[in-house]
Amino acid sequence: MNALIMVLPGDGTGPEVTDQAVEVLETVAELYGHRFTIRTDLVGMDAIEAYGAAIADDTLADCAQADAILFGAVGGLTQVGDGPRPEQALFRLRTEFELFANLRPVRPFGALIDASPLKPEYLKGTDLLFVRELSAGLYYGHLETVPGKPSEIRRRGNRMEAIDTLLYTEDQIERVVRTAFELAGTRRRNVTSVDKANVLSSSVLWRRVVERVAREHPEVTWEHMLVDTCAMRLIRNPAEFDVVVTENLFGDILTDEASMLAGSIGMLPSASLGSRRTPGGVFGLYEPVHGSAPDIARQDRANPIGAILSAAMLLRHSLGLHPEAAAVEAAVEAVLADGFRTEDIAYAGGTAIGTAELGSRVREQLAIAD
Ligand code: NAI
Ligand code: MG
Repeated sequence: MNALIMVLPGDGTGPEVTDQAVEVLETVAELYGHRFTIRTDLVGMDAIEAYGAAIADDTLADCAQADAILFGAVGGLTQVGDGPRPEQALFRLRTEFELFANLRPVRPFGALIDASPLKPEYLKGTDLLFVRELSAGLYYGHLETVPGKPSEIRRRGNRMEAIDTLLYTEDQIERVVRTAFELAGTRRRNVTSVDKANVLSSSVLWRRVVERVAREHPEVTWEHMLVDTCAMRLIRNPAEFDVVVTENLFGDILTDEASMLAGSIGMLPSASLGSRRTPGGVFGLYEPVHGSAPDIARQDRANPIGAILSAAMLLRHSLGLHPEAAAVEAAVEAVLADGFRTEDIAYAGGTAIGTAELGSRVREQLAIAD
């Protein structure tokens, strides 16, 4: 197939891990007979320097032409002055393309399980997919996308008060819940919907929508779970979860909690999906969960697996190349099973190698498996 992929490497370790992911995509194209056109542009601090904005309008226009975006990370050690901030790039991409479903799979690799901070018997069989609502909720009060939705610090008498609004429309809930049920259909067919319906009206509406969407998917089993219960069960019995869907703030916290199940933040991929269809799936932005890690930038120390697995998600969700995505994941698994580790996962023993060598070993495994 032909595809146009927009690559935005960004700051710090972003470029070095993204390079490895791009080379994996190029290897996939070569081995499986696809033509991927890769277009690269500046984002984050270099874009501020060159264009005066964290992402230029022209870059956004190029993204709109693409089937998917592969993103590194943005942000520096410190913010200088009060000009444009690098993080605005991600924010603009999310709003411009209405990326409403943030997918974060967590599947601890066998080779790392024994060295995890959690007991291996609790981790065994864990293979879960978080679907976090990304476009609404508490974080969006200040955008004034909904008139009369306050988010402010204000004076009341001689004391201050502050207000944020947690607002969800039925449509915002429905599209993300529908995504979760559709994804569950391709996995173990189970959805856990997480809310706080014992105290929040938005959660009561959330439940109603879940029940309605669930009726359209009789093949998927599902349950409601309170967010505090979910926080406990993620540690006590993570293997019980298949797809977990939740609103923005709960998802932010629970996905960070769940990420620790995988051993290192450098291991974790993510996808942020919109609703525009592409020939093979849906348009999306793919990035490792970690930030720009400036403390280890340009030293060949960063773990590229989060970025490489993000490329695998791109193949699956935006291009519909399921066997190719699975092959990339299997290649990562094989490299870990052979004992190769970047320093963040060196606690699991094995041979310490750098960013570039880990990437090239993944590509080697891909070629062997083909
Ligand atoms: P971070 O994720 O960049 O780093 C946290 C810790 O994990 C650091 O010790 C780092 O060395 C380590 N780490 C991160 N990625 C790694 C990898 N691939 N391999 C090995 N070790 C890795 O988070 P931090 O330090 O809070 O933020 C640094 C910058 O990144 C800030 O400017 C922040 O705003 C930005 N950031 C950007 C994100 C994005 O672009 N999506 C997400 C999170 C933070
Ligand atoms: Mg977070």
